[in-house]
Amino acid sequence: MNILILGGGGREHALAWAMLQNPKCDRLIVAPGNAGIALIADCANLDIMNGEAVVQFASDEAIDFVIVGPEAPLGAGVADDLRDAGIDVFGPSAAAARLETSKSFTKAICDAAGAPTAAYGHFTHADDAKDYIRTQGAPIVVKADGLAAGKGVIVAMTEDEALAAVDDMFAGSFGDAGAEVVIEEFMTGEEASFFVLVDGQTVLPVGTAQDHKRAFDGDKGPNTGGMGAYSPAPVMTDAVTQKALDQIVRPTMAEMVRRGTPFHGVLFVGLMIEDGQPRLVEYNVRFGDPECQCLMMRLGGQVLDLTLACAQGRLSEMTVNWAADHALTVVLATEGYPGAYEKGSVIGGLEDLPDDSFNMVFHAGTDRADGRFVATGGRVLTATGRGPTLAEAHARAYALADKIDWPQGFFRSDIGFRALSTQKT
Ligand code: AMP
Ligand code: GLY
Repeated sequence: MNILILGGGGREHALAWAMLQNPKCDRLIVAPGNAGIALIADCANLDIMNGEAVVQFASDEAIDFVIVGPEAPLGAGVADDLRDAGIDVFGPSAAAARLETSKSFTKAICDAAGAPTAAYGHFTHADDAKDYIRTQGAPIVVKADGLAAGKGVIVAMTEDEALAAVDDMFAGSFGDAGAEVVIEEFMTGEEASFFVLVDGQTVLPVGTAQDHKRAFDGDKGPNTGGMGAYSPAPVMTDAVTQKALDQIVRPTMAEMVRRGTPFHGVLFVGLMIEDGQPRLVEYNVRFGDPECQCLMMRLGGQVLDLTLACAQGRLSEMTVNWAADHALTVVLATEGYPGAYEKGSVIGGLEDLPDDSFNMVFHAGTDRADGRFVATGGRVLTATGRGPTLAEAHARAYALADKIDWPQGFFRSDIGFRALSTQKT
């Protein structure tokens, strides 16, 4: 089987690695890929936002199955174009991707489905939004309605901060994404991510994770796309998982079917859990990055069978083979990230690292120059370990990170600290 993966981050490197563990994968192309992905698959220059170009490329290269990594091409309808062309594709339609591309859409779906989530208001005018904030008081959460590269959420501890965030959004600081805002009740509790495959109505859980969004140790510093993650998430007990499925995931998936826009692909369910009760924070319509690196290490080659069954509407035939294992990933980022940073610094030491099903460095933002690896992004590498306990996964991930010779890079030294401190294993 010939497979095409769209994207070029750590998530896509991990997806590519998992596909290659499965003997059904004959040829693998990743577009655009990166220097790490190029070590294991062919990389192609392709405009992944252009559905027509992707369909043409897929038919030229005799591709049987396409996996869409990031949300932007999904929002642009690339999965629709592939499905219309009769090519199996893992990823939702643009209409179903609204679960990520519009926060007000998701809130309305939750209302219709009775799914527990934060109370909210949806506003198209700054004055109305501000009146609502004054009535509700702080803390309160202000969100740009559309896609804002993970930056459109302001958790405001004071009313002034919330009012300023509204002004900012309507002044265009997030472009079109901020033309409408959602204002939410501030929820307390512990956050976790829950990943399920959905082929319309059948829902198949494939793992849980927790990430660290802040740049620095102790969950300090600015918000990032994620500085590390681990799987499974201890807070996702069987009881919490069952509630999340029964009260949140299945009712919202049924509502999507009822509206004529069934969801196909992976649903990334962001939850806030308090006193054993999960509430929805947000949906994403793709794997998380770096959560995906942990999930792929744990699932391995079965990911190809699972994602293909999902694309072909055969999920009800599938089961996931779980190992009682743990994975942990540490993100190595360029000094300055998530603010301004320089590109092009040389990374050494990557050639001599182990790469097997317990130790993998997935590349997120790398290129090759004069035969050496160079950093091309903010998040650049993800050192990932797997083991029978979280402590062993942690030790492996940090052993990898420590061996990388990259003076311009930094990483957090405390990924997994909460879970490690509560687990004796
Ligand atoms: P989102 O992009 O919606 O996931 O929001 C980013 C982060 O903001 C979440 O991971 C939470 O940490 C926080 N957040 C979002 N909504 C809320 C809320 N209603 N209450 C508390 N924290 C929130
Ligand atoms: N790590 C969070 C995300 O992928 O959205």
